[in-house]
Amino acid sequence: MAASQRRGFTVFMTGLSGAGKSTLSERLREVIESEHQRAVTLLDGDIVREMLSSGLTFSRADRELNLRRIGYVAGEVTRHGGICICAAIAPFRSAREEARARISPLGGFYEVYISTPLAVCETRDPKGLYRKARRGEIKGFTGIDDPFEAPEHPDLYLDTSKIMVDDGVRRIVALPQKDQLL
Ligand code: ADX
Repeated sequence: MAASQRRGFTVFMTGLSGAGKSTLSERLREVIESEHQRAVTLLDGDIVREMLSSGLTFSRADRELNLRRIGYVAGEVTRHGGICICAAIAPFRSAREEARARISPLGGFYEVYISTPLAVCETRDPKGLYRKARRGEIKGFTGIDDPFEAPEHPDLYLDTSKIMVDDGVRRIVALPQKDQLL
């Protein structure tokens, strides 16, 4: 099928820092590109904050703005038949619902909640930020002294302390496949 006739989709991963969003996203991108020959745009929180949202803080208003930018770009990719993976903490339900409302009329939209427990994320602490937050050196850190509003009806839950990355990727890939978008 010509690219222009294809319907696109967005996989919107949400979860705490250290939950495994980036690892899953990168592997998901590899699998889609190599096994399905489709190009993927990956909007990873850390890169978006450098390239699209530099200067934004972690206040509620700035997190919402960050998410609105991610949702806008993902919507444009989806509109043109592309595949976008978003991987940001996205702690606020209203901001996630806004992304869903924007993108779902344009193509598939799958919210994947990386539900790895805080205790596991904190033990992993790949950037040493939980330790700093516990010491009070970072204020307003999600999960410590800033809220994470867990999704109530995600399309998929994945707890990376219980499943392997490739198993998680298979379960994500099944979502657009069920809708014949992949
Ligand atoms: S979001 O809340 O706006 O969706 P985003 O995914 O872009 O967050 O950025 C999260 C990353 O920023 C974390 O993985 C962490 O490395 C870093 N970070 C720095 N300060 C904070 C904070 N106060 N809360 C959460 N993450 C933070």
